[in-house]
Amino acid sequence: MPLPELESCHLRLSAFREADTEELHALWNDRQVRRYLWDDRIVSLELAAETVQASLASVEVEGLGMWTATEKRTGALVGFCGFRRIAGSSEVELLYGLWPRFWGRGLATEASAVAIDWLFTTHSLDRVVAGGDAANDASFRVMRRLGMTLLAQSIPGAPQARYYELRRAAWRLDGAIRSSALGNASAGPSS
Ligand SMILES: CC(C)(COP(=O)(O)OP(=O)(O)OC[C@H]1O[C@@H](n2cnc3c(N)ncnc32)[C@H](O)[C@@H]1OP(=O)(O)O)[C@@H](O)C(=O)NCCC(=O)NCCS
Repeated sequence: MPLPELESCHLRLSAFREADTEELHALWNDRQVRRYLWDDRIVSLELAAETVQASLASVEVEGLGMWTATEKRTGALVGFCGFRRIAGSSEVELLYGLWPRFWGRGLATEASAVAIDWLFTTHSLDRVVAGGDAANDASFRVMRRLGMTLLAQSIPGAPQARYYELRRAAWRLDGAIRSSALGNASAGPSS
């Protein structure tokens, strides 16, 4: 099943395509973006291409993958978000990152909210997790805004310092965030 296009108040989410590789390569090499996302490593064009290919393959095999997020008003690339399976585990991980000029507007929360709504509507998973380096406070704030809670135990095989989880049964965005993130664009399981 291909990843559908999703819409939130300000964003359009479109499944990764090979043609997105160069733009994603530029995004992932921004110093502030790669700091935690890639442990500050320079991302080669080959690695960016492999990452896009991994998403395409994951969509084919299990209907999970990544979207680019573009601003509806301008068409500008804002960032990316989506899901991947943690290698060797049954856990599905939420990932996101935005160009710094789009930070501080709630757009990572907005993109993630619409993606999670889709995930819990289309997949029978009990939970989704998200992890981050201990110093990545901005990312942990996004997780908490999404209603995620800190996991006491680490996930076997998962490399990040700290993980949060969101259980299907607990997927209920704070009302104000829900209406600003999802508006009427998505009909999820919570109201
Ligand atoms: C992690 C990252 C996406 C967070 O970006 P962000 O802009 O802080 O997060 P959001 O887009 O959800 O915006 C939330 C901020 O916007 C503000 N905001 C403004 N309007 C808002 C709205 N309508 N709804 C929610 N937040 C809003 C919030 O107050 C919040 O600021 P605060 O955290 O200082 O309180 C960003 O830092 C990033 O791309 N980092 C690099 C990649 C990375 O580390 N990814 C995570 C790896 S796991």
